[in-house]
Amino acid sequence: MTEVRPSPKLVELLRGTGPLLALTGAGVSAESGLATFRGPGGLWEGRDPTELATPQAFRDDPLTVWRFYAWRRAQAAAATPNRAHETLAALERSRGEMLLVTQNVDGLHERCGSRQVVRLHGSLWRLRCTAEGRELDDLRTDLGELPPYCDCGALLRPGVVWFGEALPEDAIEAGVRAARQAALVLVVGTSSLVYPAAELPRIAAAAGGYVVEVNPETTPLSAVADERFAGPAGEVLPALLEAAGLSSEASS
Ligand code: OAD
Repeated sequence: MTEVRPSPKLVELLRGTGPLLALTGAGVSAESGLATFRGPGGLWEGRDPTELATPQAFRDDPLTVWRFYAWRRAQAAAATPNRAHETLAALERSRGEMLLVTQNVDGLHERCGSRQVVRLHGSLWRLRCTAEGRELDDLRTDLGELPPYCDCGALLRPGVVWFGEALPEDAIEAGVRAARQAALVLVVGTSSLVYPAAELPRIAAAAGGYVVEVNPETTPLSAVADERFAGPAGEVLPALLEAAGLSSEASS
């Protein structure tokens, strides 16, 4: 077990009522069995996912990109939220003023009961018409014949943000606003390499927020963070709440 000894300052902030921002990445879902982007097991059929998650890859070969996303949908549907998702949902319930900004597209935070969720990189469970830009929810685990087409006859694409694409404006604005106001920022399971998501904790730190990183590995944020816990989020987050005398149970 990772030893988790939060500072008195962090305990005070966890118990307090000031605005809280949590920023999450693929590492939060690692303990649910979903591969991270840059870690071991991150390859799909021997290919680097970051090369498939691009508009160019979709233009060149929509079928392969869709097979990759159909596989990710199936993986995500079969996965269950873990203690890290549960603890973040419990924290929101216990303090109210908390925004969870995620780079994850798997939907596990929402399935676990987090309510105030901003999805910076979209969702696996949304499809977008490549002609009309219209988006629709689609929770099916089996999309049928790939690639899927819209009623209008155009190709559908996954409702996610690909490399080289702009993030949804309202999502990044909400993230920046929360970062400027946050008394405490929990940065969990992200390599802090992909911008603009990686900018949010830096904005918060510049505005006086207390930045805490939870990640077994060091990242470019580690030097900026006020406090760091080098362990799996599913162990560290419940232990942090416990140390602060808060419940980390999903149903409490
Ligand atoms: P990465 O795969 O880049 O990083 C995952 C991070 O999680 C790494 O720093 C790991 O050390 C850490 N990690 C692994 N297991 C963990 C655990 N059990 N608990 C806590 N941390 C753990 O994933 P992201 O940072 O999410 O973008 O990647 C950012 C974006 O790049 C993704 O949203 C995606 C990707 O390409 C798009 O698709 C646009």
